[in-house]
Amino acid sequence: MLDLLIKNASLQDGQRGMSVAVREGRIVEVAPGLDAPAQEVVDAQGMLLIPPFVDPHFHMDATLSFGMPRVNQSGTLLEGIALWGELKPLLTQEALVERALQYCDWAVAKGLLAIRTHVDVCDPRLLAVEALLEVKKKVASYIDLQLVAFPQDGVLRGFNGPQQHTSNLERALDMGVDVVGGIPHFERTYDQGTQSVRLLCEIAARRGLRVDMHCDESDDPHSRHVETLAFETQRLGLQGRVTGSHLTSMHSMDNYYVSKLLALMAEAKLHVVSNPLINITLQGRHDTYPKRRGMTRVPELMAAGINVAFGHDCVMDPWYSLGSGDMLEVAHMGMHVAQMTSQSAMRACVDAVTVNAAQVLGLEGYGIQPGCHADFVLLQARNPVEALRLRATRLKVFKRGKLLAQTPASVSQLHLPDRPASTQWMNGF
Ligand code: FE2
Repeated sequence: MLDLLIKNASLQDGQRGMSVAVREGRIVEVAPGLDAPAQEVVDAQGMLLIPPFVDPHFHMDATLSFGMPRVNQSGTLLEGIALWGELKPLLTQEALVERALQYCDWAVAKGLLAIRTHVDVCDPRLLAVEALLEVKKKVASYIDLQLVAFPQDGVLRGFNGPQQHTSNLERALDMGVDVVGGIPHFERTYDQGTQSVRLLCEIAARRGLRVDMHCDESDDPHSRHVETLAFETQRLGLQGRVTGSHLTSMHSMDNYYVSKLLALMAEAKLHVVSNPLINITLQGRHDTYPKRRGMTRVPELMAAGINVAFGHDCVMDPWYSLGSGDMLEVAHMGMHVAQMTSQSAMRACVDAVTVNAAQVLGLEGYGIQPGCHADFVLLQARNPVEALRLRATRLKVFKRGKLLAQTPASVSQLHLPDRPASTQWMNGF
């Protein structure tokens, strides 16, 4: 007897009429038209069954703090960092936990079941670290939460000497934070940025951890810390375990230099996370017209064989006042900004918030295949492009074969002469 049988589903690779059989939290069979006794049977009615959305880049310690203590007037990264600095002394662990849990509710409802969140380690109290470790435990049965020790103010920039933030970061890792973060472009000098990349990669190598750095998040065509990140990755044997996040300076770099850089990044097996909602609003703020888009070179990175994922980065915080945990909204913006309008490019944008993002986190058992965890989302769309176009309703969200959330289908009743009684915004419906 199966625990769950999904029938008549479409899959991300284009297969239709597929059944997915689940026993003890794992997928045991994926085949067309399966019929077997099951505790629960779901007729997908031809809709798309997709593995859960994965957000490879988020800031859960800042989320849902919009307006506290004031609003970012300039809309720039730097005012956002200053604003976060004003908010930090006012934070309480209780409020941090409550806001994070509320965001996790939103995420589950949107089928977002794995999140890599950076957590600021520059506050010596490590209040946010303690709060997010508690949240990680609380949500463990429904969200895979991976924490990155993020020295937001610069690991070498501390006012009490360069050791201060390094020791905070090491303490956070001792407490159980999973990944080593950094922000080389925000260190005081370019040289210190380079030193920070080396130092942080060495800490990760020593501890056997992954690395995920905010890197070159500026419009400066000469900000080239990703080159150092690729170099240190290879020097320390960290291939496949290091992520460069944002990389917006690549947008503005010289094309010849980028042609050299892409090969170096591919050789180091770097992962790249682009954050389209944030970078289309933060970048180009110092331009008049024409204004640069400021997102990194997503299609070119993908063409070079580099794993590229899209992250949400921020929801209702000092940097971004919108968002709801909807990774299809993230992919939708990424597709527009990168002009990835072909059918295959649009499918690649959906991959960027599912399978590619899962690779960034190193998730085990991810996918709709026998042996994988029975984690999936039934969307009100028949294929990935339709899902992207409609930012489709998440009809049902399952984790380990158990229903976590469901949302009624989006249908508008029409009262029009000689026209259908309703629409779902799909051709043929
Ligand atoms: Fe970020």
